[in-house]
Amino acid sequence: MNVKKDEKGFSTRSIQPDGMEQDGHGALVPPIYMSSTFVFPSAEAGGARFAGEERGMIYSRLGNPTVDALEHAVAGLEGGEAGLAFGSGMGAISAVLMALVESGDHVLCSDGLYGCTFGFLSMMKRKFRVDFSLADLSDEAAVRKAMRAETKVVYVETPINPTMKLVDLEMVARVAHECGAQVVVDNTFMTPYLQRPLEHGCDVVVHSATKYLGGHGDLIAGVAVGRKAFLDEVRMSTLKDIGAVLSPMDAWLILRGLKTLSLRMERHCENARQVAAFLQGHPKVQRVRFPGLDDFPQGELAAKQMEGPGGMISFEVESLEAGRKVMDHVRVAKLAVSLGETTTLIQHPATMTHSVIPAEVRQGEMGIADGLIRLSVGLEDVEDVIKDLEQALEKI
Ligand SMILES: Cc1ncc(COP(=O)(O)O)c(C=O)c1O
Repeated sequence: MNVKKDEKGFSTRSIQPDGMEQDGHGALVPPIYMSSTFVFPSAEAGGARFAGEERGMIYSRLGNPTVDALEHAVAGLEGGEAGLAFGSGMGAISAVLMALVESGDHVLCSDGLYGCTFGFLSMMKRKFRVDFSLADLSDEAAVRKAMRAETKVVYVETPINPTMKLVDLEMVARVAHECGAQVVVDNTFMTPYLQRPLEHGCDVVVHSATKYLGGHGDLIAGVAVGRKAFLDEVRMSTLKDIGAVLSPMDAWLILRGLKTLSLRMERHCENARQVAAFLQGHPKVQRVRFPGLDDFPQGELAAKQMEGPGGMISFEVESLEAGRKVMDHVRVAKLAVSLGETTTLIQHPATMTHSVIPAEVRQGEMGIADGLIRLSVGLEDVEDVIKDLEQALEKI
C-alpha cells in the first residue's frame, strides 16, 4: 500500500495530527461535538450530502467531527490513507472482516487469536458458512500450504496474544497477495509507535483503542486504518448498518491519550524489560515469553519489524493452582482483563480472555498452557511491581 511519508516525528504528529482543523474560536484542543444530528443549510444540501455529492455532517452514526479528528490522527500514525473509528475493538474487527468476506470464503489466521475474535469467526462459520483455520504464520511453507483458493483474508496478530509468538508481516503480505488475499493485522499489542504493518505491505490495521491508544483504562473503542476506498465502503455498510459507532466523548479521550503515546510506550517497554528479567531469574517461573529478552527465539524478526518489545509478558508457573495463588496475592498489579493502560494488570488466559476457545485448540494449536499468566506491565515504579510479584510468587 502507498504509505504516506511525513517528515515530522511521531510525537509531533501524535500531538498535532495533520489536517486537524481549529474551530471558529481557535480552540487548541478540538471540541467534543456531542450532537446526534447536524442541521442542513438547505433541503438541496441535505440531499447532496446523502448522495455523497457534497461533504458535510449528516448524523453521528455516519460521521462526527470529533470522531473524524481521531480517525485522521490514527491513520497518520499508522501511515494509512484513512481511518475509521468504532465503539470497540471487536466492532472494528467484525466490521472489517464482514466487509471482506462472503459465504463460501475462507479466513486464514495466526495460530493464536484474541478469544472474542476466535468467537466471532466461529459464529461466522456456524451461521454464514465463512470458514476459518489457524496456521503457523511464522513459517512461509506453512502459510503457502494453508492458503486455499477461497482464502480472501489472512488475519494476523503479532505478537500473538498471549503466547508472544511473532509473524513475519512482510512475508505474509507477499504470499497473501500472490494468492489474491488481503492481510488484516491486529496491532493492539504494539501500537503504531512500535510497529506499522502497512509499511510491511499489509492492507488493513485494526486496533482495540481501549488499550494503549486510549491508554488510561477509561473507555472501550476500536479503530481500523487502510485504503480510503475500502474504509469508505465499511463506513457506509457494516459500520452504518450494524452500528458499532464511537461516542465523540471517547474519541476526544483517545485524542488526549495519543498525545503521550510515545512517552507511555517507552516507559511500558522499559518497565516490562525489568519485570521480564526478574521473572526469568525466579525459580518458581518455568518460562517467560517477552520479545525483549536476549534469548527470545525470534529476535531477528523482532528487530526487523518492531521498534521495541512492548509492555506485554506471558510467564508460566507449574500449574493452574500455582497461577491462581500468584493472581490472588498480587496487590500493586490488579487482577483484571484488558491491557495497555497505566495500571499493571494480571490475568489468566485459559479461564478468562481465551476461555471461549475449546481446550484442545487452546492447549494444542495455540500453545496456551493452563499455567500461563499474562501480565500487562503498567507505568508504576517498576521496583514496586517487581516486589509485588516477588511476594506473590512466594505463596506458591
Ligand atoms: C489483541 C486484542 N484485540 C482485540 C480486542 C478487542 O477489543 P475491545 O475489547 O476493545 O472490543 C482485545 C481485547 O482485549 C485484544 O486484546
